[in-house]
Amino acid sequence: MLELSSCFSSSDRRRISLFLAPMAGVTNPIFRRICKEHGADILTTEFVSADGIMHQNERTRRYLTFTEGERPLGVQLFGGDPERLATAAQRVVDGIRPDFIDLNFGCPASKVVCRHGGSSLLRDCPRLEQVALAVVKAVAPLPVTAKIRIGWDENSINATTTARILEASGITRIAVHGRTKAQGYSGKANWEVIAQVVAAVKIPVIGNGDIASSVDALQAIKTGVAGLMIGRAAMNNPWIFSEIHAALGGKSKFVPPTFQERCELIRRHCREEITSKGNELAAMSSMRARLMAYTKGFPGGRPLREKISRVSSLAELEDLFAAL
Ligand SMILES: Cc1cc2nc3c(=O)[nH]c(=O)nc-3n(C[C@H](O)[C@H](O)[C@H](O)COP(=O)(O)O)c2cc1C
Repeated sequence: MLELSSCFSSSDRRRISLFLAPMAGVTNPIFRRICKEHGADILTTEFVSADGIMHQNERTRRYLTFTEGERPLGVQLFGGDPERLATAAQRVVDGIRPDFIDLNFGCPASKVVCRHGGSSLLRDCPRLEQVALAVVKAVAPLPVTAKIRIGWDENSINATTTARILEASGITRIAVHGRTKAQGYSGKANWEVIAQVVAAVKIPVIGNGDIASSVDALQAIKTGVAGLMIGRAAMNNPWIFSEIHAALGGKSKFVPPTFQERCELIRRHCREEITSKGNELAAMSSMRARLMAYTKGFPGGRPLREKISRVSSLAELEDLFAAL
């Protein structure tokens, strides 16, 4: 991570907002509420297809569900057609009144990229501009934010150019994931490029990539970002938001959760998924990947994790925890 001498007083640090990163299949209302209770300031839905909204499909409707307690909340949209995105954004705003619309310019998945969506717009700046302009106009005065990667690949890092275009198009805040599309989720996030974006635009820039502790956060804010966005680390440890807030100068000293508190949060998450799905087997099956993330670092090692990867009821999970 970038080495810069600190120029932040503790009162500056207190203004840093913490964002839960949008994560498909992860950041549903249940997990978003958990993160909010643990200190996340701003939430976003997982990415939602503009086409799905136009077709009013059932899965899309579920992605758009949120509760009032989650505000301020943004709906993240993806697509490649400016007009369709603008119409979809307008429908979302009229229908569910989120606090902002977020545009996804970072998804590396080929099914998104091949339809000119997500990170493909990083190498098509004219289309990126058209998308941003169309959506900003369609939902004004509601704020429209954007999430980008630093470029398509290491030979085409263009985050400062992209950010300037977005700012000129009326985008009010930009989250920058410090990786290229080609990197996917491998390698390290490049916070030097994030710092360059901060210097290139006047709108707030939110830094994203590899923040897994308050130490990482304190280092990251030296880039001058207005906020930090946290993804994978929250899947393992939703307490990361309160840990970072405490380190940034909040009043309360952070007390790490006990093992029992971690287990209780996992149980609660499972119970809420079961209630939401109305089917324990379906809920626990969908929780398996989540449980793998939550129990990273738990005693019990590989044998525990193998059993967790097959767990099919809450009682089974309780037995596994009881045996630890
Ligand atoms: C399972 C998963 C799903 C993701 N889904 C989305 C998404 O829907 N929209 C988006 O903009 N980024 C998505 N991302 C990227 C994250 O928002 C974030 O940029 C990335 O994980 C880097 O941050 P981190 O190092 O804190 O995890 C996803 C990442 C993961 C791991």
